Amino acid sequence: MILSDDEKMMLDGVAGPAVAAAMDLLVRYGEALDCAHLCDVRNVAGTMTQPSPIKAKLVAQGGWDKAYAVINLDCDDDIEIPDMRVPTCQLQQGFGPDAEGVVPYPRGRIELQNDAEAFYGRRGVSILATCTPYQVGNIPVRGEHCAWMESSAVVYANSVLGARTNCEGTASTGAASLTGKIPCWGNHLTENRYGTHLVDVRVGVDDFLDWGMLGYFIGEIVQEQRPVVVGGIGQPEPIDLKHFGAAAASSGGVELYHIPGITPEAPTVAAAFGGVEPPDAIHYGPRERRATYEDLNSQGSTSDVDFVLLGCPHASIDQIWRAARALDGRRLSSGTQLWIMAPRALKTIADRSGYTEIIERAGGRILADSCPAMSQVVPVGTRVFATDSAKQAHYLPAFLGIEAWFGSLEDCVDAAVTGSWTGGLR
Ligand code: F3S
Repeated sequence: MILSDDEKMMLDGVAGPAVAAAMDLLVRYGEALDCAHLCDVRNVAGTMTQPSPIKAKLVAQGGWDKAYAVINLDCDDDIEIPDMRVPTCQLQQGFGPDAEGVVPYPRGRIELQNDAEAFYGRRGVSILATCTPYQVGNIPVRGEHCAWMESSAVVYANSVLGARTNCEGTASTGAASLTGKIPCWGNHLTENRYGTHLVDVRVGVDDFLDWGMLGYFIGEIVQEQRPVVVGGIGQPEPIDLKHFGAAAASSGGVELYHIPGITPEAPTVAAAFGGVEPPDAIHYGPRERRATYEDLNSQGSTSDVDFVLLGCPHASIDQIWRAARALDGRRLSSGTQLWIMAPRALKTIADRSGYTEIIERAGGRILADSCPAMSQVVPVGTRVFATDSAKQAHYLPAFLGIEAWFGSLEDCVDAAVTGSWTGGLR
């Protein structure tokens, strides 16, 4: 790997042992990939504050410096962690103190996370605490090299914003934060950003439910490749693309897609494929749409619903308002809970706008910072849940052994109010 002078100096310890350890990790990572050089990054989205038993043990041994060294730098040395060198934000984490009494989540983890927030906040980690940093002000510009974790955020950054990031890990983002560097491979390189598959949509796709299903269908087919989507898709909103990418990243491993005329690197189909002849199209029509819906609903057999989960990826303010309207004047069934996951910054806006009051009057809750899949926790006794997120329908039954129903936000709210699933494809 060819290093610039400033990179060599960091590796030699001129900026201190933590930065040297970070550079050592990046060089090992880059060399394992046959990567020729590092690129400069000024936007890191990683995870430092997420509580875990191993982190608690490390903190007891050597404080938060030790925890960062081992978990975020893959380094066993006793080193002091300096301020972040470049703007860094915390993605989703565990639940906060306001979830106590609602979420069966250990108090010890909440306290550990509070300590972590204080330590890392003082070193320049912005506690956005969401899987959707792009909804709360972290919006990289087209062509900007970033180091982001979280598959749904990575696919949004690459595709909708035209930024350049691979799906990084805890250690590589930890090292990027202290150096402003990341190996320049994969999605950072123009030649790896052209489309590989053409998907022709022949059925109306005009709501985030449908966009989620389309993403889920495409991810299963293209896996980690780069779909180019054309046909009857209308004008998507950010929420639609949020659900589309998250679903494609969970059924497959899509990190980048193009929608000619919509996403920034694809003014035309020809541009999306880099001038290469597009392959034969994969078709998505009414039959594929129905099959995808049935696939996502193949994990539910009991119509009684204990738990309804909205907001994966974390809800936009429009989604919170839509849920409030659907719940207004109604009351949840006594045996059903409804949680809406949202960025804390947007929850503040929902509080101020009166949406939270409507939702809480009905018996629902807006919860920030985390989600059931991230924290592996649902209401006590949950056997069956319903969600409007293809991603949660994909993961939660596998993580927690519960049944899942997938449907529109309104079908999910109806399930929360009646306690049973009556949703269907319209
Ligand atoms: Fe976010 Fe959790 Fe979904 S972290 S993308 S709400 S699985």
